[in-house]
Amino acid sequence: MRIKPTPNSRRTFLKQTTVLAASAGAMWHTGSSQAKDVDMPNQAGPVIVSTWPFGKASNDEALRILQQGGSGLDAVEKGIWITEDDLSNSSVGRGGMPNAAGVVQLDSCIMSGPGHKAGSVGAIEGIRHPISAARHVMEKTKHVMLVGAGAREFALKEGLEAAEMPIEARRQDWLKWKAEQEKNAGKNHDTIALILLAPDGHLYGGCSTSGWAYKLPGRLGDSPLIGGGLYVDDEVGAAGATGLGENVLRYCGSFQVVSLMERGATPEEACLETIKKIARKDPKGADLSINFIAVDKKGRYGAAGSAAGFTYSVTTTTSSKVLTGVGLTAVDLGPIGGNRK
Ligand code: GLY
Repeated sequence: MRIKPTPNSRRTFLKQTTVLAASAGAMWHTGSSQAKDVDMPNQAGPVIVSTWPFGKASNDEALRILQQGGSGLDAVEKGIWITEDDLSNSSVGRGGMPNAAGVVQLDSCIMSGPGHKAGSVGAIEGIRHPISAARHVMEKTKHVMLVGAGAREFALKEGLEAAEMPIEARRQDWLKWKAEQEKNAGKNHDTIALILLAPDGHLYGGCSTSGWAYKLPGRLGDSPLIGGGLYVDDEVGAAGATGLGENVLRYCGSFQVVSLMERGATPEEACLETIKKIARKDPKGADLSINFIAVDKKGRYGAAGSAAGFTYSVTTTTSSKVLTGVGLTAVDLGPIGGNRK
């Protein structure tokens, strides 16, 4: 049954979360919201939302593809290509940081709202566009996820381009890291997640990352996991994550965001409430290092981070801009759950 966010269900959601927050004794301070919180009819054109300021170039390409008549999936894939090919970006694609063994292992997934289809690759090596490999898994196989050598072999068989990785600058960084032991580990996990409401009224999304810098070989983060780094429900909305994957995938973070929107939350409320829920169980505060973006079926969008200052990109036919999501800056852990003060 189709559950549409209605003003009534939104009131119910707000009432429930207020009661929950109050009963948990939680005190949340959030920055001022820049999210769009009014209905946007589809006729107003696509709404494209992605993580970080570097997502803006991907959004612009996605918009260009849509305006040329490309599909929502083409827009997601080709938009993400831009970030995957940006060698100055050390957390996505060819310019990504290697793992502890000096090997770049990339994670990516893609979802199509229509048909609730998904494809994913994890720890894929030497493929220029992991987002395309994920799309091929979705469209050309009966599976959802391929990893490691099998994913690479499949991508090459599908005619996808190989690429040398790491690039020299990242190899030098890795050599320095090896010399200095693990001092820098864990600094780098800035995924691109790109979600969009297409002019056809359907939702699509994708994400791509090189993951945690100097991770253990074989480590998968949230980005190849459907419901972790990305989730699309064509009746409700789409969400994507960036940050420390371990703190997203343990909670099926993007799935939670979409579920909250289904219960009537706005995209921004859903992102923030998901982070609150995670923070209540996992009181690391800003060290949670997680951020979510979301767009709903009405074209409303929003974002939130476990710390203030998470920036994300939003592109429509009339503007392309970088906004700041609301941030969780203080957490009073309440009596519910296990890991409390
Ligand atoms: N969010 C990307 C990762 O942790 O791998």
